[in-house]
Amino acid sequence: MKVVAHRGYSGRYPENTMLAFQKAVEAGCDEIELDVQLTKDDVVVVLHDERIDRTTDGAGYVRDYTYEELKQFNAAKCWDGRYDRMAIPTFEEYCIWVKDEPVTTNIEFKTSIYYYEGLEEKTIELLRKYHLEEKVMFSSFNHVSLLKAKELEPDIACGILVDDELGNAGYYCSQYGFECYHPNGAKLSGAVAESCARHGIKINAWTINDMALLERLGDLNCSGAITNYPGICLAAGNTEIGKITLHTGKAEISR
Ligand code: G3P
Ligand code: MG
Repeated sequence: MKVVAHRGYSGRYPENTMLAFQKAVEAGCDEIELDVQLTKDDVVVVLHDERIDRTTDGAGYVRDYTYEELKQFNAAKCWDGRYDRMAIPTFEEYCIWVKDEPVTTNIEFKTSIYYYEGLEEKTIELLRKYHLEEKVMFSSFNHVSLLKAKELEPDIACGILVDDELGNAGYYCSQYGFECYHPNGAKLSGAVAESCARHGIKINAWTINDMALLERLGDLNCSGAITNYPGICLAAGNTEIGKITLHTGKAEISR
């Protein structure tokens, strides 16, 4: 299975920051998952929540700030001073960095709670500017966003995010031209996994932070595990004794 670093290496570093992305690559992940939204002045930024309260020392909605204002806030707030102050990254900053890295990127359009007009176009503009079209895929809980992205860039794969299981996932994806199904891994059934296999749809499941679930997804022939702990998931496929190191109380095996 492909190991996908959810919001970067978010189990050990501040989520959706350049540090979390760099650490995910250092750990050897195959792919980075990140979330994109638009600021008031239409800058594509990388952040999960529609509000900045949980992950930064600011308050309010992303859409109410210009990027100049937004970048003043500390995106490492949740880690009690363990990490230096860092800014919410722009997606362009991410593109400039990732173009030379040996990973692909799963870009999630955060458009299901608040719809950002033009987010898909602006994201794709940046991918074209940095020639990243062949190193990315799109995902979203808002499947209309994915249809828009398909219109603009038909060759970029799309994965539909769902929380509650979609019984006819294989049929649904194939009818809309989506290549992948991205379910909550804890809720994925054998029947739906089979439906996807029948229609040639790949499954990338989230958020896989325990070994039993990782094993089960392997049994269901999932293509990818989206995890906060890419180092630990990679270790599952490389368990040679002697490579074990301990970090913050969690066992991790370096690659
Ligand atoms: O791509 C999987 C995952 O990111 C979906 O949920 O809320 O973490 O963006 P969320
Ligand atoms: Mg996401």
